[in-house]
This record gives sequence, structure tokens and C-alpha cells, in this order.
Amino acid sequence: MFKSMRNRLLPHFGGDPALTRTDLRLKVRALTRRDADRYENHLLRLSDEDRRARFFAAMNDEAILRYTRGRDWNSSTILGAFVNDALRGAGEIAPMSDASRVELAVSVEGPYQNVALGRLLVAALLVEARLGHLTEARLVFLRENRTMLELARDLGARLTPQGGMIEGAVALDQRDPLPVRPRLSERPQDQSFPS
Ligand SMILES: CC(C)(COP(=O)(O)OP(=O)(O)OC[C@H]1O[C@@H](n2cnc3c(N)ncnc32)[C@H](O)[C@@H]1OP(=O)(O)O)[C@@H](O)C(=O)NCCC(=O)NCCS
Repeated sequence: MFKSMRNRLLPHFGGDPALTRTDLRLKVRALTRRDADRYENHLLRLSDEDRRARFFAAMNDEAILRYTRGRDWNSSTILGAFVNDALRGAGEIAPMSDASRVELAVSVEGPYQNVALGRLLVAALLVEARLGHLTEARLVFLRENRTMLELARDLGARLTPQGGMIEGAVALDQRDPLPVRPRLSERPQDQSFPS
């Protein structure tokens, strides 16, 4: 699943697997309540069209403020893409009623689109979901959203049109045990982990 995405992602960053360039500092990290203003300002910088594509409805500034100020920071995970310390993209993992599945939503500010930040965020969200032992992630987007359609196709998502929307279901392979070290406090006393 990630191989084709990686092949498409790297050329945008000069093929450098570390995704670094001297004049560009790119960082992806989870947002916390302390980032509430940054997240709000990022969403406010989205164009009307991008707001509609993200929220499936017209969202004026007041509606964005209602959304950001009413959100429960414990109920979902948001990953932020920072370019030179400014939040330019965000991806959210929201739980669905079935606990093994989640819905993903992404946004990248206009001037920063088409350099693979969207792909990077979706990839990071999928890794996060997989580490959380989830089995399926869903990307829901407007039918006319060609960018998301390409992205979902690249991921091998099972696409189901639903009215004006398309739902893309990405299966998260959980067959292999994940090479994740348990947290220090969870490690059995007699077990040692080579570094
Ligand atoms: C969707 C979104 C997150 C994508 O972010 P992005 O950083 O521009 O995406 P990427 O650069 O990773 O990928 C864009 C790809 O789509 C392709 N693309 C863009 N417009 C396209 C079109 N009309 N038809 C086909 N492909 C298109 C680009 O060529 C690029 O492919 P490439 O990597 O092979 O060159 C961004 O456009 C956005 O925030 N849109 C508004 C919110 C939204 O739609 N969210 C999704 C629903 S939750």
C-alpha cells in the first residue's frame, strides 16, 4: 500500500527520503489542545472551496470558529504538517461507531497544495491507525474532488459512490505483528530490548 505512495511522494521532495532541505523545515506531529489557535487559523486560511471540500458544507468564519472551539480534543487525533514552524496542513482521525474503523479528513492550505503534504498526512494517519490496531480507515470526499480520488486510488481504497460523495475504504493490514516496542512501563521486568 505504501510503496506506490512513497514512489509518488519522494520526487516532490527532491527524492530525499529524510524529506529535508536546507531552506525548508518540515515537521509532522500530533496537535494538542495547546495548538487550538494554530489549528483554527489554519482552517480559517482555507479558501471557501477547500472548506466545502473538507466539511461538505459552506463554512463561513463563524462556522469554523464554532467547529474548532466546540471540539473535544480527547475524542480524535489530529496530525499537523508544519512548514518552517507554521501549521499548513492537518489530518484528523475520527472514530466511527464500529471501534475497529476510523474516518480520516485532511486539509492543506492553497499555496502549499500539490507538493505532497496531503499524501504525507494521509500516510501518517494510516500509520497512526495501524499502530492503533485498527482494521479499516475511511476517506470520505465530494465526488468532484479529483485530488482525493487520485489519492484514494493510489492507496488501493475500495471506492463506493454515495450520492454526491465517494467513500474510500482502506484496509489496514494487521496480519503481521507490529514491530512496536511496548512502553517502558509495560515491559516485563525480565525482558531486555536491544537498542
Ligand atoms: C485534498 C488535499 C488535502 C490534497 O492535498 P495536497 O497536499 O494538495 O495533495 P498532494 O500534493 O499530496 O497530492 C495532490 C495530487 O493530486 C493530483 N491532482 C490535483 N488535482 C487533480 C485533478 N483535478 N485531477 C487529478 N489529479 C489531481 C496532483 O497532481 C497530485 O498528484 P501527484 O502527487 O501525482 O502530482 C487538499 O487539496 C485540500 O486540503 N483540499 C481541501 C480539503 C479537502 O478536499 N479535504 C479532503 C476531504 S476530507
